[in-house]
Amino acid sequence: MENRMEQLREECLQCQKCPLAATRHHVVFGTGKTDAEVVFVGEGPGENEDLQGEPFVGRGGALLDKYLEAVDLSRERNIYIANIVKCRPPQNRDPKPEETACCIGYLSRQLVTRQHGEWFNKDGVWYMGTFHPAALLRNPHNKPDAFEDMLALQSKIREICTHTYDGTEL
Ligand code: URA
Repeated sequence: MENRMEQLREECLQCQKCPLAATRHHVVFGTGKTDAEVVFVGEGPGENEDLQGEPFVGRGGALLDKYLEAVDLSRERNIYIANIVKCRPPQNRDPKPEETACCIGYLSRQLVTRQHGEWFNKDGVWYMGTFHPAALLRNPHNKPDAFEDMLALQSKIREICTHTYDGTEL
């Protein structure tokens, strides 16, 4: 698994499939545990991520890490974090459909936007949309709802996962 992920990372780092390759500083491939049962998927890297080559860094990333920690999750221990497009769209604009189409192959399946907190199952994989940390920084009144989503995630993990919480005190 590690090996396959490393090969994919190497391939992705060389990617020139769309025009975002020309303006990126770094490909933001993804980070975390490669055997994770829980994967967080963002839309695409921002400026800090582009400069550092890591997803969700800076203030938004720090807030995300706090929310994760509240439900015994962390990128070091038991989750994986990736983006739909791996290179920063200039000025943080939305990725164009053709950019997403070029990049989506690096992610195993496409996410559809849903109501936050609503679970859905696609081809045997469970998904739930939640708040983007940058949106929470702009609209702090949504923070309690975001925390509810994390608690719902914790319940789902307890229900269906086999080793995500191994070694953590519950
Ligand atoms: N927003 C995203 O969607 N992904 C990141 O990695 C950072 C900000």
